[in-house]
Amino acid sequence: MTFDYKVKDLSLATAGRHQIRLAEHEMPGLMALRERFASSQPLAGARIAGSLHMTVQTAVLIETLVALGATVRWASCNIFSTQDEAAAAVVVGVDGTPEDLQGVPVFAWKGETLPEYWWCTTQILDWPGDEGPNMILDDGGDATLLVLNGRKWEQAGAVPTASEEDSEEYTVILDTVRETLESAPTRWTTIADGIRGVTEETTTGVHRLYQLHETGDLHFPAINVNDSVTKSKFDNKYGTRHSLIDGINRATDTLIGGKVAVVLGYGDVGKGCAEALAGQGARVIVTEIDPICALQAAMEGFQVAQLEDVVGIADFFVTTTGCCDVIRPEHLLAMKDKAIVGNIGHFDNEIDLTGLARVPGVQKTEIKAQVHEWTLPAQQADGETPARDERSIIVLSEGRLLNLGNATGHPSFVMSNSFANQTLAQIELFTRPDDYPVGVHVLPKRLDEEVARLHLGALGADLTELSKKQAEYLGLDVSGPFKPEHYRY
Ligand code: NAI
Repeated sequence: MTFDYKVKDLSLATAGRHQIRLAEHEMPGLMALRERFASSQPLAGARIAGSLHMTVQTAVLIETLVALGATVRWASCNIFSTQDEAAAAVVVGVDGTPEDLQGVPVFAWKGETLPEYWWCTTQILDWPGDEGPNMILDDGGDATLLVLNGRKWEQAGAVPTASEEDSEEYTVILDTVRETLESAPTRWTTIADGIRGVTEETTTGVHRLYQLHETGDLHFPAINVNDSVTKSKFDNKYGTRHSLIDGINRATDTLIGGKVAVVLGYGDVGKGCAEALAGQGARVIVTEIDPICALQAAMEGFQVAQLEDVVGIADFFVTTTGCCDVIRPEHLLAMKDKAIVGNIGHFDNEIDLTGLARVPGVQKTEIKAQVHEWTLPAQQADGETPARDERSIIVLSEGRLLNLGNATGHPSFVMSNSFANQTLAQIELFTRPDDYPVGVHVLPKRLDEEVARLHLGALGADLTELSKKQAEYLGLDVSGPFKPEHYRY
């Protein structure tokens, strides 16, 4: 079979296939869905454009969607997060060889440039033949953003011109859309009109979807997968609890115990990160803007402080906020020698490295891929700040999510929960369009509970069943749902 694709090296496919096979064992939720829907094929006719970190776990998701009848094209949602062996294995397919490809077109490799990244994203929306994609599976919202912005600019008759304040990334998006419009002037409207819906993986992408809906720019229904309890309270927390430390260790191999670590943001991801660092023996300090989350951190025994007051004493800084400009040049310049700085939030705008690069005398040295030492110039005392010798700080993954840039992201078992939600969300949107008008929806609680149920057996967890009398007393059905919508877990 021939099809277009672009990955690093197809000869990595065998190594990737071994890892995928082992991951399947750790992804009981996805494998159960494959079995359950093998004959009914609910995704037959679905043409899914997927933009999500091209890891081994994502390979199991892609092959589950295909097993349920979908046709798929895939790109990664970050320039550093692809596992090249997984990408190769997905292209080759379970029964294929590098000479006889039986898999799925993937456009992803570790270490893409920004123009390459947006080229890859256009490739998943560009289907051979007349039919375009009819579903998007997104992580962070880039594929959705490209389609909807493309449509908006196309309808306005012009792509905006980037100003000097715009980020490099925004300029690349504008150039990408401008180029594609030259060859096909109604391309983005056609693609947008063909999309039945999008399922969105992460907090930041969901935030974008609600904003798009508020401004009337969302043209198809969306399912917020992130806010399934079995996603955000598991992947965001327990996933980062595992993969943050993995990323720091693979990047630096610096001992964490006994050191001071600042976790910026104490939402689901921040909670996982703080627990992991404390588990390694670090003294953890949390920064927060939300009094509820700040109080939670204090109740867990963490010091809650403003970054300015602790920036000079910490050995590790991890941003988890989904917000921009959380660590700014003045903070970076005030850090102690060899402090390690990384971000685990979705986008790289949490740490202002562009601003740091503009500071005279700052130098960047590559230690190895995705690990850079930034040398900070000596500073004269100026009344407000004391004199400082030359120092350096270590920045992970150039400020992009370090657990995927420096390591391989979350482990399979937790991703099985997230991706079981993704699969059910794709089935819901594709097979029950009347239940999901344009807007942002979450999966029904019975499906959320179902995802949890699919993972209990593998952990040897034995669930207690309600008696009929108990169920009546609580006003529940014996088979659930067991909690009202407002319950927060
Ligand atoms: P969340 O909304 O639960 O937590 C973010 C927290 O940061 C909130 O409590 C908020 O009050 C706080 N915050 C916002 N601005 C702040 C500031 N300037 N200073 C201090 N605190 C601030 O979101 P969640 O689910 O924890 O996700 C955080 C980010 O991580 C998002 O970008 C999300 O997409 C991403 N994410 C990354 C994963 C990964 O594997 N790297 C996995 C899951 C989510």
